Amino acid sequence: MAVTGASGVSYAYNFLKELRKRKVEVFLVISEAGKRIIELELGIPPEDFSKLATRTFDNSDLTASIASGSFPIDGMVIVPCSMTTLAAIAHGYSDNLIRRAANCTLKENRLLILVPRETPLSLANLENLLKAKLSGAVILPAMPGFYHKPKSLEEIVNFIVGKILDVLKLEHNLYQRWGTNKIDNQD
Ligand SMILES: Cc1cc2nc3c(=O)[nH]c(=O)nc-3n(C[C@H](O)[C@H](O)[C@H](O)COP(=O)(O)O)c2cc1C
Repeated sequence: MAVTGASGVSYAYNFLKELRKRKVEVFLVISEAGKRIIELELGIPPEDFSKLATRTFDNSDLTASIASGSFPIDGMVIVPCSMTTLAAIAHGYSDNLIRRAANCTLKENRLLILVPRETPLSLANLENLLKAKLSGAVILPAMPGFYHKPKSLEEIVNFIVGKILDVLKLEHNLYQRWGTNKIDNQD
């Protein structure tokens, strides 16, 4: 799992907490910009965030196990994914551990989920999203739905976390699925 310097680190925090509840082994890398945004948006030191992961690697550590395709992983999630990291992945540019691990994930045909956050999107952003998709990544934009009638910020955040868990085929109850409850009523 990687956290890059886009707004929306709450998605990453709640996702990491969900993985921890399920005792999923998580190798975490946070970019320098990501660390700054954890401080700004969550108001906690990045070290406290990292404590939830099984292991943490420095983004400059290109000798880490996850920098090689020979190291087995089930998949990688980049949440949130900045447009800079997206551009690097789309173009196979692997100058840090997050980008290298993402490219290894793609070349080994493993699951790579990108949760991009930017608005509006430039032509370059859109082309890079398409390139990443064509390379095999799952593009899961941080675009929460509202049909479950969220009553708090937490419920909005957890909609996206639930969507990531859906792709990973991990069961959850983080948002109410359409057609399964009272939200279908016009109340
Ligand atoms: C407060 C703040 C919010 C930012 N939000 C975004 C964002 O939502 N999306 C984005 O693509 N970049 C955003 N950026 C810019 C990235 O942090 C910057 O492009 C950085 O180089 C990304 O590097 P990284 O991908 O290695 O983390 C933001 C920067 C700051 C300081």
